[in-house]
Amino acid sequence: MVKKYTYGSPFYTGAVIEDIKAEISAIPYFEVSSDDGISFEFKMHNKDIVYGLGEATRGINKRGYVYNSYCSDDFCHMETTRSLYGAHNFILIEGEKTFGAFFDYPTKITFDIGYTKADTLKVYCDKADIDVYIIEGETPIEIVKSFRKIIGKSYVPPRWAMGYMQSRWSYYTSDAVREVARNYRKEGIPLDAIFLDIDYMEKYKDFTVSSERFGDLPELIAEMKEEGIRLVPIIDAGVKIEEGYDVYEEGLEKGYFCVDKDGKPFSAGVWPGLTHFPDFLNEEAGLWFGLKYKALTDLGIDGFWNDMNEPAIFYSEKGIERFYEKLSEITNGDKSVENYNKIKDIVNSLQNSQEDYNSIYHNVDGKLVKHNDIHNMYGYKMTECTAKALEKIRPHERTLLFSRASYVGMHRSAGIWTGDNFSWWSHILLELKQLPALNMCGFLYVGADLGGFGCDATRDLVLRWLGLGIFTPLMRNHAALCTRDQECYQFENPEDFKNIIELRYRLLPYLYSEFLKCAENNEMFFKPLGFEFNDDEMARNCEDQLFVGNELMIAPVYTQNAIGRYVYLPEDMKAVRLKENGKLEFEDMAKGHHFVEIPLNEVVFFLRKGKCIPLAKSALSTDAMDFDALELIGYEGAKYELYTDDGINSDLTKVEKKILNN
Ligand code: GLC
Repeated sequence: MVKKYTYGSPFYTGAVIEDIKAEISAIPYFEVSSDDGISFEFKMHNKDIVYGLGEATRGINKRGYVYNSYCSDDFCHMETTRSLYGAHNFILIEGEKTFGAFFDYPTKITFDIGYTKADTLKVYCDKADIDVYIIEGETPIEIVKSFRKIIGKSYVPPRWAMGYMQSRWSYYTSDAVREVARNYRKEGIPLDAIFLDIDYMEKYKDFTVSSERFGDLPELIAEMKEEGIRLVPIIDAGVKIEEGYDVYEEGLEKGYFCVDKDGKPFSAGVWPGLTHFPDFLNEEAGLWFGLKYKALTDLGIDGFWNDMNEPAIFYSEKGIERFYEKLSEITNGDKSVENYNKIKDIVNSLQNSQEDYNSIYHNVDGKLVKHNDIHNMYGYKMTECTAKALEKIRPHERTLLFSRASYVGMHRSAGIWTGDNFSWWSHILLELKQLPALNMCGFLYVGADLGGFGCDATRDLVLRWLGLGIFTPLMRNHAALCTRDQECYQFENPEDFKNIIELRYRLLPYLYSEFLKCAENNEMFFKPLGFEFNDDEMARNCEDQLFVGNELMIAPVYTQNAIGRYVYLPEDMKAVRLKENGKLEFEDMAKGHHFVEIPLNEVVFFLRKGKCIPLAKSALSTDAMDFDALELIGYEGAKYELYTDDGINSDLTKVEKKILNN
């Protein structure tokens, strides 16, 4: 059951699509105070677990820290980081009292979950204009389902987008792309897509293609498609200010860019230099920008990633003017530490500054709205507009689309990747912890930059990360500029990588089927153990294992030099071990604690008691797979309900369901 409580006059975010009437009674569970903004306080019981918040740092259980829901470009996020790229304001308290709460608020809102006071959950924001939804149900699973129902069905990508994908900032020329494809094919490692980062464009101008470096893009796209490999270009939020650039000139003429307080287009420095930001909160402007993707779909492109849409601002035009003024005040030869610190501070204050977010304005239905009052809506609306336009451009086929910034509601239009991470072991575990929380908020098509974006990856880290990545719907290896190459063929014994990625392809009929089920039935693809085993304290407190769909449990290795790891089985299960050359070994294991040895070139996962899953034969790409020739593995006599379709049709009513018997 879902109840809505409205305070003040909330900004309409569109996150909730069901028409729910606001209650007149007081909100349950929380004590509300509106002395300064508004706050909601809940007394937590000792054993309560607080789930949720989607893309956030720290645990599956969010207790013990404070999080700011505020879309932020923080490429170097650590344990202490409070805001990440997405803003996902759903929490679920499980324990003495079990309920969910969604705080529908378009800009910064703080979740202090036992940080200031160990037993107090306090959610607060600056303005007392907010809709709060309280979701009740018998179990966490039911609560999530009810929440997901009111926010609408999740985006389903084309099936090829669940294949393995390779990215790098950047493959600078079409020949560099060909080389990646050639190397993957040479090693026989499956690959479904190669990503084009900003350098495919001319001077980082959206919807342009560098004639010098990618002059043969149409041929390249066709050539790659023959090989079963799609190319996926990036689109950034900012539009380069340049005379003669049609997107800039049209946007300017039609008044489609965000403005400053004087009504002049707001200028900020991002990759292309000074840019204007399209006003995605203005539907007409958003659709105009979205239809520009046609320039690339016309060439045969069928997937995109939207980036820098928090929006990320390196500096604003005004900000840099202020910067030079301040700098001239202090560059007087003073060599003191104080002066050095002042210089550092003014440099650091340029990027993603509050001053800038406070000087951007949107046109919402003819009214000017300050950006910082609706900050979390920007990437969401950019991507929603893209999806709407793509439906017009390619009505019959699903297009791959994912974004960096997001808010609840965007899950209907696209997936997300979890932004810039690092080649750190801790970021493997962080990804695992974020996955179920993202699912709670509707984001099913999710994944992190495998191998880590920043810093140099090591062979063992990439292999172990793949051990988790083969289960994530979005499975993309991506690395930053100037970091060590981390394509699978760059390391010793590429056959180990091949073996693990081939397992992903063999699992695809299962993973895709579970994905379709979750999208149709508002279920979670990744579940914390406590969601299925509520009364089992070990399961409730498990922070490094997950259920994947209804049949599997995973317990990836995420520490360096580990020979294996402790695994907790909340019930008897069948361990499935991937050995060399694709050989699978099975072992029945009893409920309880086990140390499971997992050599670097093996993967172990667990089949739940009484279940079975379908496997296909791997191939070099999903296009080359036979999704009808399936083999079942698991418990004898088990049944599996397979959801399947042609993998591309936008009409999801065409999904077929059949029972397979083991
Ligand atoms: C941002 C993106 C990253 C991309 C880079 C260059 O940092 O998060 O994925 O590679 O920009 O476009």
